[in-house]
Amino acid sequence: MSHLELDMSILEPELLAELDAYIDSLPDPRGSIIAVLHKAQELNGYLPRELQLYVARRTGLPTAKINGIVTFYSFFSEVPSGVYTISVCTGTACFVKGAQEVLDRFREELKLEEDEPMTEDGLFSINDVRCIGACGLAPVVRVNERIFGHVKPDQVSEIIAQHRKEAADAS
Ligand code: FES
Repeated sequence: MSHLELDMSILEPELLAELDAYIDSLPDPRGSIIAVLHKAQELNGYLPRELQLYVARRTGLPTAKINGIVTFYSFFSEVPSGVYTISVCTGTACFVKGAQEVLDRFREELKLEEDEPMTEDGLFSINDVRCIGACGLAPVVRVNERIFGHVKPDQVSEIIAQHRKEAADAS
């Protein structure tokens, strides 16, 4: 990560003040780096490189280490995500039961290319994930924390509609 290309002004001062207060409340911020990153993600929604650099400076940890942690754990994200993150498992058990067709159908129905972080309305993101430990339900789709098992491509539009309705009812 090159620091020269980063624009630290994208970070909101209020957000940084809250993050600072949290870091200062910890007896050992370096030893609690996962918790610090969770807090940063909770405040900002995701962890852009600028925020990773800020956390590195505040905790004195190398930026490469922070980035290593962020990219290792699937619950951290470097890109913004929609209200609903659709994680399609393409681990072996799910793959042999047709996960790729399910994944393709989600992308098709949501008109979301692989390199796009979310749908235009900000509602959906799609992830392709490895085994999520529910192989007996293959192919498995997780929408935020909700698990759908034995998913067939024909059920994709129904899953999307269910979440669109939920979002509309909540707004
Ligand atoms: S391979 Fe998909 S849940 Fe295990």
